[in-house]
Amino acid sequence: MVDTRSTVDPEYTDADFQMVRRIAKHEAGIFIPDSKSTLVYSRVSRRVRESGMDSFQAYLGFVQSPAGRAEMNKLVCALTTNVTSFFRERPHFVHMEQNVLPGLAAKLRSGGRGRMWSAACSTGQEPWSIAMSIMSAFPEAASYDMRILATDINSEVVAQAASGTYVESETDGISTKQKSQFMQADARGNLSFVGNIRQLPAFKVLNLNADWPMRGQFSVIFCRNVVIYFDEPTRERLWGRLAEKLEKGGFLYVGHSEKVANPRRCGLEQIAPTIYRKDS
Ligand SMILES: C[S@@+](CC[C@H](N)C(=O)[O-])C[C@H]1O[C@@H](n2cnc3c(N)ncnc32)[C@H](O)[C@@H]1O
Repeated sequence: MVDTRSTVDPEYTDADFQMVRRIAKHEAGIFIPDSKSTLVYSRVSRRVRESGMDSFQAYLGFVQSPAGRAEMNKLVCALTTNVTSFFRERPHFVHMEQNVLPGLAAKLRSGGRGRMWSAACSTGQEPWSIAMSIMSAFPEAASYDMRILATDINSEVVAQAASGTYVESETDGISTKQKSQFMQADARGNLSFVGNIRQLPAFKVLNLNADWPMRGQFSVIFCRNVVIYFDEPTRERLWGRLAEKLEKGGFLYVGHSEKVANPRRCGLEQIAPTIYRKDS
């Protein structure tokens, strides 16, 4: 088979950078600062080469044509930052264990439903951490109407998240007890979630800045370390939409450097620097 991929550095101009910025904003709501031209080149040049093209101009023309829709998806994936870890920002999990899970267990036992949302789940460490917290507090959770919706715009990380398999070095944040309860090692030493816990998360591709198909509300939403990539009007709109998706008394957890600018305007009360509660 002939390898059509080019090995030369593709041509890249400031006009191309500006076009990538426009595409990122239009397709994902991602705001790329003016200073990130080199970063864009390093992330996108591989896609240009793999598409067999020798310039960003040709590549960007292709992704915006009807035939380039699948490649547009890959471009958006290349532009996202997916850093995450198990039990990242642990105080959120402690807060949830103390303030949500006891009431949730009672609600499920009396026939109610439990819904949580990991709204930018990346490779899955966040929703699987939520699932471990739930199963540790309430081991029968999977036999009740309990689901964790785990979504991200990047289809590649969503597929990885859904596999529930991680190399051992990525699992540092998980206690030995939880590893032995919820994971199994394969011949290569990778660890996979096994058993009932797999019934809790449902993984889907979803753009936070497009329409959402979900009709119900959530008692907990984790939307962490994603709005830092959006501009202020996009953040403001998203906070309002997330607040609408929260049940009364439900909690919104945001990233350590994130803040809901006007919580009262969307019916949220800030109860800790990165924790908000929907008015009851
Ligand atoms: C840094 S990761 C955060 C992962 C996790 N929430 C955490 O805090 O560890 C940011 C994620 O946001 C996703 N993302 C970026 N823009 C998005 C959008 N418009 N809609 C949904 N997800 C988006 C990226 O694909 C990436 O996986």
